[in-house]
Amino acid sequence: PTERADATPLAGRTLVVSAGGTREPIDPVRFLGNRSSGAMGVALAEAARDAGAAVTLVGANLHVPAPDGVALVEVETTAQLAEAMEAHADADVVVMAAAVADYRVDGVSDGKRSKEEWGSQPTLTLTENPDILAGLAHRARQNLVVGFAAETEPDDTALIHRGRAKLARKGADLLVVNRVGHAEGFGDVTTRVSVLDASGVIAESAGAKASVARDIIDAIAEHLAPREE
Ligand code: CTP
Ligand code: CA
Repeated sequence: PTERADATPLAGRTLVVSAGGTREPIDPVRFLGNRSSGAMGVALAEAARDAGAAVTLVGANLHVPAPDGVALVEVETTAQLAEAMEAHADADVVVMAAAVADYRVDGVSDGKRSKEEWGSQPTLTLTENPDILAGLAHRARQNLVVGFAAETEPDDTALIHRGRAKLARKGADLLVVNRVGHAEGFGDVTTRVSVLDASGVIAESAGAKASVARDIIDAIAEHLAPREE
């Protein structure tokens, strides 16, 4: 008889995944943001649900609908995303797929700023945001912490090298390196990823986001410690 892969390798597990891109307010009507649609994180939430996990999706300004059957927590800013992830930090699997704004704006004004106030050559002063992933990873924990890295590095060896350095810096268990180019990533239908652990590349996948998401969930399930009976 042929071995059949477990269809629900995450049954009985909890998983939280962040998706989308955080926005940092400048004033009540303006923000600094990024182009992340949230499609990859949403696809992961769906794949994890199908794999049997109880899924929480922390969505930051999603451009795509959240899947049925997952608990959705909507956030806008990096501070809100950090708080929501902190509240679910004890999940069996924690995935940071969101594009987090690296900086926030100092001195956000309560009212909409006029051009008169801005002047002709305004400057914004920024402060670095805390690293949510590193915060979730660098603590006493039993769960699996997974990061994402969208890289534009064209050379594969250099890309993996960067990924391994980032994985070590963040203290995560796995890092999904996503190739972003003119025709790949950020809202595109197809994508190409390498999944790294401390030993190197443990999985590769390319194609539609839904199928890549299933491969990433399989790699996560294989990496989880076997359940105690
Ligand atoms: N991340 C995070 N908090 C931040 C920045 C990034 O949790 N303030 C997470 C992202 O969600 C992703 C991983 O860290 O899972 C890698 O994001 P990336 O932007 O590649 O890492 P940075 O450390 O910000 O490095 P870079 O200078 O390349 O932007
Ligand atoms: Ca960054």
